[in-house]
Amino acid sequence: MTSSTSSSPTRFLTGITTTGTPHLGNYVGSVRHSVRFSRRADVQSFYFLADYHALIKVDEPARIQRSTLEIAATWLACGLDPERVVFYRQSDIPEIPELTWFLTCVTGKGILNRAHAYKASVDKNLAKGEDPDADVSAGLFMYPVLMGADILLFNAHKVPVGRDQVQHIEMARDMAQRFNHLYGEHFTLPEAEIDDAVATLPGLDGRKMSKSYDNTIPLFTPRTQLQKLIGGILTDSRLPGEPKDTEGSALFQIYQAFADTEETAALRKAYADGIAWGDAKQVVFERIDREIAPMRAHYEALLDDPAQIERILLAGAEKARALSGPFVGRLRQAVGLRKLEAPATAKIAKSAKVARPSFKQYRERDGRFYFKLLDANGGLLLQSRAFASPQEAGRAIGALQQRPEEALATLAEHLEPVDNEGMRAATDALEALAMSASGG
Ligand code: TRP
Repeated sequence: MTSSTSSSPTRFLTGITTTGTPHLGNYVGSVRHSVRFSRRADVQSFYFLADYHALIKVDEPARIQRSTLEIAATWLACGLDPERVVFYRQSDIPEIPELTWFLTCVTGKGILNRAHAYKASVDKNLAKGEDPDADVSAGLFMYPVLMGADILLFNAHKVPVGRDQVQHIEMARDMAQRFNHLYGEHFTLPEAEIDDAVATLPGLDGRKMSKSYDNTIPLFTPRTQLQKLIGGILTDSRLPGEPKDTEGSALFQIYQAFADTEETAALRKAYADGIAWGDAKQVVFERIDREIAPMRAHYEALLDDPAQIERILLAGAEKARALSGPFVGRLRQAVGLRKLEAPATAKIAKSAKVARPSFKQYRERDGRFYFKLLDANGGLLLQSRAFASPQEAGRAIGALQQRPEEALATLAEHLEPVDNEGMRAATDALEALAMSASGG
């Protein structure tokens, strides 16, 4: 599954936890960009409502349901085309909890101990002198595995996330690697995609707009309410006629996220010319409302027709399950959850092999050929550089297997550099392989 031809689209996948009402910060930081991006011909996008994840944080059923409706309506109102992308609700995909279990069984508990969200809770408890796991659910502890299943189930290449989620993507990679090593190459190794160009939006009080600061402006709040909220954005006490600083002005930054360069330059000049705060707020309000108003109308219509959204999500789940159903079927086979009358011989040699280092040969999306040498636990020992053909990569592997020391020297420029200790580990592994091949 590591190989794919260069013409096949890159698969992007993102989940949105259904715990709240979308606000301007979500729109500027994620929705707007994602919707635009999903229209590109060279990408295939998966967007889903992470309602299983929501259960970890929220125990109010009505709020989960409402948030799921609002978030789905928001993405659709912002132009997400459910025909083009795969748009679904996590809890409609039974393969996700099933894969979560498979991954749970190949994930070290120690790895999960180091997950940021869990560690933050533990540190907080320790600081209060409480039991480290006080009020920590096993759900919170398992959060990264559920997220790994979301990603690996659809073999996503790229996962657009905020910086706080990067560790989770790395964990998903580790799970994929470990599973692949034990059961064969089933999973693509995902990568985090962080877009630093997308600014975080300040909220009403100037701190990052976030539900946890209670400083948000709901994206589709009615026009009059939007005006009132923008009127409440924190400014300094400079009087009309006094020049104002754009630097550090939350109002200015929010404007910038919506305005083009010319409009931004005009407001900058107005600041320098001493525009009254009230007038500046009116400019910002009108600009935002101009962009939001048509989508707001669409949003309200969608909220009035939840059955339509339900249909769209179920159709999305059907598309998703056309992929995930057969895939998990193969994974069940791979791990040994099989029909009893099926011949069990095929993979039985595996148990003799797991204790040994192994070569993995594969094709990257750059169309070129690579291999790596993994130790018995799936840890990376050697990583090759690109070869033009599988034959060349195969010859290099052959040389390493037959004459390890000599080949390591002659192939140096075809391998990513390793330090002395790494070189020793690789040499040992190759010699162990050579021994076992010669029947030793
Ligand atoms: N954990 C993500 C967040 O809080 C939401 C999420 C769940 C997600 N599953 C995912 C994001 C899979 C990307 C891919 O933002």
